Amino acid sequence: MIGRDELFPAYALDDRATQRVRMNFVASADGSATAGGRSGTLGGETDRALMEVLRAMADAIVVGAGTVRTEGYGGVHPQDDDVAWRRAHGLSEAPRLVVVSRRLHLTAQDPVFAEATTRPIVVTCAAADTARREAIAEVADVLVCGQDAVDLVAMVAALADGGMPQLLCEGGPHLFGSLLEAGVVDELCLTISPRLVGGSAGRIIAGAAEEDRPIRLRSILHDDDFVFLRYAR
Ligand SMILES: NC(=O)c1ccc[n+]([C@@H]2O[C@H](COP(=O)([O-])OP(=O)(O)OC[C@H]3O[C@@H](n4cnc5c(N)ncnc54)[C@H](OP(=O)(O)O)[C@@H]3O)[C@@H](O)[C@H]2O)c1
Repeated sequence: MIGRDELFPAYALDDRATQRVRMNFVASADGSATAGGRSGTLGGETDRALMEVLRAMADAIVVGAGTVRTEGYGGVHPQDDDVAWRRAHGLSEAPRLVVVSRRLHLTAQDPVFAEATTRPIVVTCAAADTARREAIAEVADVLVCGQDAVDLVAMVAALADGGMPQLLCEGGPHLFGSLLEAGVVDELCLTISPRLVGGSAGRIIAGAAEEDRPIRLRSILHDDDFVFLRYAR
């Protein structure tokens, strides 16, 4: 297994102060973003270690409401050495969790709120249901960006203004598509899982218009048949 001592330098950030959106995704060798409806089934031991390392470096973890519901997101609990690493780098003990949602089909009892160690942030838009917004405000900070959908450029800027310039987005594919179209994706950390899934599951990007968008390969690691790619814009 690739150790954390190798992962930290391979994924180091050039400039902590600059606003950045880094995507972390896993796909099967045939391009499927899920197996059996979830992404966790594609992962492995190093993939999980990498997720912890990327989380350790982030000011906030951004996820779409679809992924929160499907993957059953709970609280963010960094391990002791990540807390130590964060403290040594002038960061808070744990990254904030940021959930993006227009419909706000979320309740205070959801693990994402009930198991939270720090108060999550829910980013929504002005057209969101007022009663739902008020209910969520009991358990999370609510940030309103945009009118009919979340204005993701405004969201990234607002989070940076709030002391969170380094964002790690863990999905899902629709949020990736929206961030891509908003032009705010800086980096993709992609794990290729040694599996051929077939079926009709989607890819890691959904909903974005087809366009040729070149990216640069910054590093490759491989371990136990998994490949870990780091691309930058
Ligand atoms: N392969 C991987 O690495 C990976 C990573 C993550 C997830 N997944 C998989 O992907 C699936 C879920 O993906 P998904 O694409 O359906 O969900 P998703 O991208 O996590 O969430 C989509 C939801 O996010 C909200 N959203 C996104 N952009 C928005 C915007 N601009 N304004 C307002 N709301 C916005 C909406 O929430 P509301 O509906 O609440 O309005 C939308 O329905 C699951 O099967 C999960 O396991 C795979």
